[in-house]
Amino acid sequence: MYLKELQLKNFRNYSDISLKFDRNAALFFGNNAQGKTNLLESISYISSGKSHRVTNQDDLIGWGCEFALIRAQVNGRLIELELRPGNILKIKVDKAYCRKKADFTSILPSVIFTPEDLKIIKDGPSNRRDLLDNILESIYPDFNSLKTQYQKILNQRNSLIKSIAGAEFNRSFKVRRSDESGRDNTDSRIDIANSSKKYSGVDEGRRSYEGESSDEESRSGKGNRGSAGTEETNNPTLSAWDENLAKYGSEIIKKRHDLVNRIGPDFSRLMRKFFPEIEAGIFYIYSWNRKSVELVSSESDISDACADLSLPCGKLPQTVPPIEEIKQCFLSMLKQNLKKELSYKTTITGPHRDDFIILLNGKDIRSFGSQGQQRISAISLRLCEIEVIREILKKDPVLLLDDILSELDFTREKIVLNLIKDKYQTFITTSNINYVSHIKEIEKDKIQELIVKDNSICEVKK
Ligand SMILES: Nc1ncnc2c1ncn2[C@@H]1O[C@H](COP(=O)(O)OP(=O)(O)OP(=O)(O)O)[C@@H](O)[C@H]1O
Ligand SMILES: [Mg+2]
Repeated sequence: MYLKELQLKNFRNYSDISLKFDRNAALFFGNNAQGKTNLLESISYISSGKSHRVTNQDDLIGWGCEFALIRAQVNGRLIELELRPGNILKIKVDKAYCRKKADFTSILPSVIFTPEDLKIIKDGPSNRRDLLDNILESIYPDFNSLKTQYQKILNQRNSLIKSIAGAEFNRSFKVRRSDESGRDNTDSRIDIANSSKKYSGVDEGRRSYEGESSDEESRSGKGNRGSAGTEETNNPTLSAWDENLAKYGSEIIKKRHDLVNRIGPDFSRLMRKFFPEIEAGIFYIYSWNRKSVELVSSESDISDACADLSLPCGKLPQTVPPIEEIKQCFLSMLKQNLKKELSYKTTITGPHRDDFIILLNGKDIRSFGSQGQQRISAISLRLCEIEVIREILKKDPVLLLDDILSELDFTREKIVLNLIKDKYQTFITTSNINYVSHIKEIEKDKIQELIVKDNSICEVKK
């Protein structure tokens, strides 16, 4: 695929620019805060219908302007998007009005590489889930509605869990008060204070989630939360939500796990190009296995340790189980975790708590990888994304590289550029003049050079 022309009006800091591109690489050089990322954001928006930086579409409209326009010529098709305040979007494809974003997002697939990709590796699991979900959204048009459906059911179940936990609290509170009514007033006051602390939820829940004494407590009959497993587990409304949650949730898990296993071999191969001595692996982790894996990964060699783990659904999952098996496991874990969920007042089981782990020579990259290895892993994940899009959509995505090369050493920068060279239309930004000559050296005369300055972009004549 190939973006031939781009026009922006009132988009971020650009009041009116028009650019023409060829099929090769375009290099945007400019100082900080000149509009390089804004430009890539506009291309990413044409591709995905959303910004990679902000959730509020209104932020894309130039300050003080009433609308923004993005007009793009892509492989003979004309996409025109008019953004109005209030998240209003008017879409025209080939001059005809369209209702859905999907009417234009399928036209120009793209993969964006940004310095923030490091968060995928370093930060919490939501960044990793987002990576997988964004890829799945771009390759399966229905994935977004599957996720929306799951989220709705999850919200309903969470409300129910909260109300059951509240009722449970009131009931045990009353039982305690009536038990204590025979005693003198002073004792009663002390116990009320203790019991409200005991059932305040947060501390109790955390203790329970981390597998401390609460299980023991409930088995021994101390602590009234032990009643989960009787009335609550038999609650028909909860069972209905569990069934629905597991139905949609298992579809999400299956798709994500399939994706992780699909990119696994490519990821290992790419990592070996950057670090020949490293054996890299990527593994999907179900919410119900996460705790065990985290405990091990921070301390010792996970691959050895996994062999010893008796995880509820087997070892670190390598092959993707059939969907029915995932669903049944999900249902049984919902039952098993109900007591913890009542303490937490939220659902802790399901794909909204899943993760994936990257191992370098068997060790967790988050704890043991160098900064460079972490950066290269993030880049390799994006390179895998390109392959998935090519294989499934049978289209070559355009690549948007936002100042990522300047963070690599020259050898690895060359490897990245050689991997994408001549294959994809590529937009590269940099604020470092030294990298302009590096990139030109690798791309030879095939590169189009542009200067980004004073809210404008001009091409350097060859
Ligand atoms: N809605 C908007 N309207 C007008 N200007 C905006 C808007 N949003 C952001 N800007 C401005 O756009 C400018 C350029 O931002 P951008 O992130 O593209 O810079 P950059 O060239 O990528 O810089 P850096 O090299 O530091 O990453 C910033 O000064 C910012 O204040
Ligand atoms: Mg930038």
